[in-house]
Amino acid sequence: MCGIVGYIGERQAYPVVVKGLKRLEYRGYDSAGVALIDQQQLSIHKKKGKVADMEESIVGATLGGHIGIGHTRWATHGEPSDRNAHPHRSASGKLAMIHNGIIENYVAIKEELMHKGYQFLSDTDTEVLLNFIEDIRINNDCPLEEALRIALKRIVGAYCILLIDEDDPDTILAARKGSPLVIGIGKNEHFLASDASPIIEYTKEVVYVNDYQVAIVKKDELVLKNLGNEKVTPFITKLDMELAAIEKGGYDHFMLKEIHEQPTTIFDCLRGRLLPETGMIKMGGIEANIEALINAPRIIIVACGTSWHAGLVAEYLIEETCRIPVEVEYASEFRYRNPIIQKGDVIIAISQSGETADTLVALENAKEQGAFIFGIVNSVGSSIARLSHAGAYTHSGPEIGVASTKAFTGQLAVITMMALKMAKAKGSISDEKYMNLLHELQAIPEKVAAILKNTTGIEAIADKYKDATDFLFLGRGYNFPVALEGALKLKEISYIHAEGYPAAEMKHGPIALVDENLPVVFVTTRDRFYEKIVSNVQEIKARKGKVICIASEGDTVIPEMADDTIFVPDADELVGPLLSVVPLQLLSYYVGLKKGYDVDKPRNLAKSVTVE
Ligand code: F6R
Repeated sequence: MCGIVGYIGERQAYPVVVKGLKRLEYRGYDSAGVALIDQQQLSIHKKKGKVADMEESIVGATLGGHIGIGHTRWATHGEPSDRNAHPHRSASGKLAMIHNGIIENYVAIKEELMHKGYQFLSDTDTEVLLNFIEDIRINNDCPLEEALRIALKRIVGAYCILLIDEDDPDTILAARKGSPLVIGIGKNEHFLASDASPIIEYTKEVVYVNDYQVAIVKKDELVLKNLGNEKVTPFITKLDMELAAIEKGGYDHFMLKEIHEQPTTIFDCLRGRLLPETGMIKMGGIEANIEALINAPRIIIVACGTSWHAGLVAEYLIEETCRIPVEVEYASEFRYRNPIIQKGDVIIAISQSGETADTLVALENAKEQGAFIFGIVNSVGSSIARLSHAGAYTHSGPEIGVASTKAFTGQLAVITMMALKMAKAKGSISDEKYMNLLHELQAIPEKVAAILKNTTGIEAIADKYKDATDFLFLGRGYNFPVALEGALKLKEISYIHAEGYPAAEMKHGPIALVDENLPVVFVTTRDRFYEKIVSNVQEIKARKGKVICIASEGDTVIPEMADDTIFVPDADELVGPLLSVVPLQLLSYYVGLKKGYDVDKPRNLAKSVTVE
C-alpha cells in the first residue's frame, strides 16, 4: 500500500528511484512522483496514474542529483490526482516528503496549522504532517531531525516517511511506525524502500527499520535512533533473494509467471521439511514449541483475504487431524471486537506480505494479552515474521502480481505440514494416514505441473464465459475455501461479480440467482462429499444454470452433467485444495486478460494493505 523509494550516493538518483518505483508499483498505482535535489535546488515531479505516466510527463526535464525520493500511491486521503500525488513540498518550499500510511489525527493538526496561516495544496494527511514538522522546526529553531521526532510523538497513525531538505542535500531522514522500511547498504550509497525488491540489484545487505525508529541516512553513514534521540545499533541482514525472482522471466504477466512457478515454489516449501523416507516433518518453529501447540485449548487463525481462505483450510485440517478447536477470524474484525483470549490459546497469523496492518495489529493486541503467536509468512523479515514468537516461512519467493496465487499454495503446504506434525506429536492421527498424507503432499508439485502443462482448455472456457456478469463458485468440505478463493480471484482480476458458497448452502438463498445466464463453478473432486455435490450440480442444471466443474481425472459422471469440465489429478481430499485452486487461478487470469484488464494491477487494489 504505497511504495516508497529513496537513494543517496554517487549514482544519479533519478534512474535508481524510478526503477525502484516500478518494482514497487504493485503496492499502489494511483499516482507516482519523485523529488530530487540537484545543485541545492529541490525539484518535484509527479503525476496521476502509473509510474510510466509520470515518466512520460517529464520527458526533457533536468533530472540530475545524487539524492532522491519517490512514491507510488494507493490513495487514502484525497482522490488520485496530480496535486494529491507525493512527494509533497512544505510551505517554505525547502522540504519534500513521501509517506506510506495514515495519520489519523491529521484533521486536528491541519486546523491548528490553518489557524497559523498555513495553506494546503492537497487533500492529503501527508502534506499536513510535513508542514507540522516544518512548523516545529521554525518555532523551536531546532534541527530537522529533532523537529521530526517531536512531530512523530504527537501524531496518531501509521507511517513510513522519507524527508529531504534542500538546505541539506547530504541527508535523507526516514521514520517508520506500522508501514515497512528497508535500507540497503552499498559502498558509499544507501537505498531506502518499502521492501527489498528495489534494493536487491545493488546490494544484499539490508537493515529492517523497526517501529518508532528514525534513520539519518547519508551516503556513507546510517544512524538509527529511537524517538528519545538514543542511538540504536542497526542490525544488518543478508537478503536471501535473487533478482530473477522479481522479474517476469518471459511471461506476459507476473500473475501468470507466479501461477506457473507453483510446482517449484511448493517444492521449495516442502524441501528439507517433508521427509516421507524417514516419516518425519522437520519444522524448527513447531518442534521448539510443540507442547504449546498441541496442548492449546484453542487455536485462533487471524488473516485477511486469500490468506484467510488458507486459514479456513487450516481449520478443517487441524480440527480433523489434531482434534483441537480452531476459529478463523478476519483480522479487521478480530482486532476491534475485544476478543476473549484465554491462557494457552495459540494465534496463527497467515500473511503473504507480513505487513497487513489489520493482521499486524490483531497480533500485537493478542500478544499483549499473553497469546502465543505463530506466523505463517512469505516475506522474510517482515513485521509479522518479526512479531511472531515462532513461525514458518512459505518460501514462495516474492509475489508481485497483486492477486495472490503462489503464496496461497505455499500457505496450504505449510499448514498441511504443520497439522500433520502436530497430529503426529499428539498421537491423534493413525500411522497409516500420516504416512499416506506425507506421500500425498510430496506428490503435489508434480501434479500441479501436470495441470499447468496444458491450459488451452481453461483459456477456451474463459473465452466462453468472459461476458457473464455474475458467477457462483461452490464447493464442500476442503473445497469450500477453494470456492471462496476462486470467487475472490475472479472479482479481483476481471471485475465480474462472483460469490463463493458452500455448495449445500446455495439452496438457502443463492439458488434464486440461477438462470441460463449464470455460470456456476463447482469444485467436484473425488472426496467424501462427492455424491452430495453431484446432487448439487444436478440442482443447478435443473434450473438451466451453466455448470463448469473442476473434477478428478477419470471421472466420467461429472462431464456428462457439466457444460465444461477441467480435470485435476486425483489426490487425498486433505491436500486437494493445492490442486483444485490452480485451474481457478488460471480461469480468472484468462477472463481478466480477455476482457483487456491489467491483471497484474487490478483497479483499486494494492498488494500490501498497510492501512486498516
Ligand atoms: C487476494 C489478495 C488479498 C490478500 C490480503 C492479505 O488475491 O492478495 O486478499 O490475501 O490482502 O494479504 P497478506 O497475505 O499479505 O496479509
